[in-house]
Amino acid sequence: MLRSRILGTGRSVPATVMTNADLEKIVDTSDAWIVERTGIRERRILEEGRTTSDLATEAARLACQAAGWDPKTLECVIVATITPDVPMPATAVYVQDKLGCNGSAAFDLVAACAGFIYGMSVADAFIRAGQYRRVCVIGVEIVSRIVDWTDRSTCILFGDGAGAVAMGPDESGRGVASTHIYADGSGAEHLHIPGGGARMPATADTLRERQHYIKMNGRQVFAHAVRNMAAACEEALAANGLTINDIDLVVAHQANIRILESLAERLNIPMEKVYLNLQYYGNTSSASIPIALDELARDGKLHPGDKLLFCALGAGLAWGSAVIYW
Ligand code: COA
Repeated sequence: MLRSRILGTGRSVPATVMTNADLEKIVDTSDAWIVERTGIRERRILEEGRTTSDLATEAARLACQAAGWDPKTLECVIVATITPDVPMPATAVYVQDKLGCNGSAAFDLVAACAGFIYGMSVADAFIRAGQYRRVCVIGVEIVSRIVDWTDRSTCILFGDGAGAVAMGPDESGRGVASTHIYADGSGAEHLHIPGGGARMPATADTLRERQHYIKMNGRQVFAHAVRNMAAACEEALAANGLTINDIDLVVAHQANIRILESLAERLNIPMEKVYLNLQYYGNTSSASIPIALDELARDGKLHPGDKLLFCALGAGLAWGSAVIYW
């Protein structure tokens, strides 16, 4: 059976660490509050002068290297991001140019924290259709540049980073067994940036009103995340004739430890089966799953045939799940 398979992974995270103690100096918060409500202890912040396409390119190069590919031979570059280098053109074209695969397909995909699963789903369809054999999917976010550093209810949650996978065809039975992607635009207001688009172009007033930063209704997002991710996981398992006991590891979007604990409870699995690195990176949006995957792969924690279950939910609301036979 022809499947798409992840043949290499890579990640690039900024060197600069911002701890909860550092945040205590910026907004009225405490390490204890942040750890108790989110599980996050520190996050990475990109240095001035570097941008989204820089981290994305580094992660993509490493993924290609792990796959044994020259980046110049990539046929399609998909960048999942809500923090593009510029509003236009796509960040993917800057990444493509830096990688040297000019002439390949290159585009961005906006599905926020679900962006990596959306990107994988598109890559999987391209590969199974025979359209491309060498696809790089990159989840990358420099959330520090769009977060309101005066809003303690959001600025404590996020971090910067990039993760990438090199995907190609495989007939051994290993690879992407299924992807399910969903959205419900009636929840768009729960997590959005009101300003800076066609609806509210940037003016001195919109800047003063801080309309160009993330606005979030945390409680609503929390409730939808648990419910919808659990449902997407059930759907993924059913589509593959699996039960949760067949899954070796759940690699979920790293937003908040309480969301992941509630998800584990709904799926009836112990937390040992849910990968966790949010304590070190915070919520890196579309980058969180590929960063986690790269850590697992490079630490030798993944074995051929392992069954992985991915799931994520974010702004849109957009969410999804995937089953991978590693
Ligand atoms: N430090 C200290 N106090 C804070 C705080 C902070 N960083 N942020 C908010 N608070 C305060 C609030 O002002 C509120 O105070 P009040 O009761 O005096 O009004 C209190 O803590 C409780 O706020 P609330 O928003 O109800 O807390 P919560 O338990 O819902 O936790 C989140 C807030 C953001 C941690 C939680 O809603 C969450 O994790 N939501 C999901 C968000 C997410 O993951 N989004 C991205 C998904 S991709």
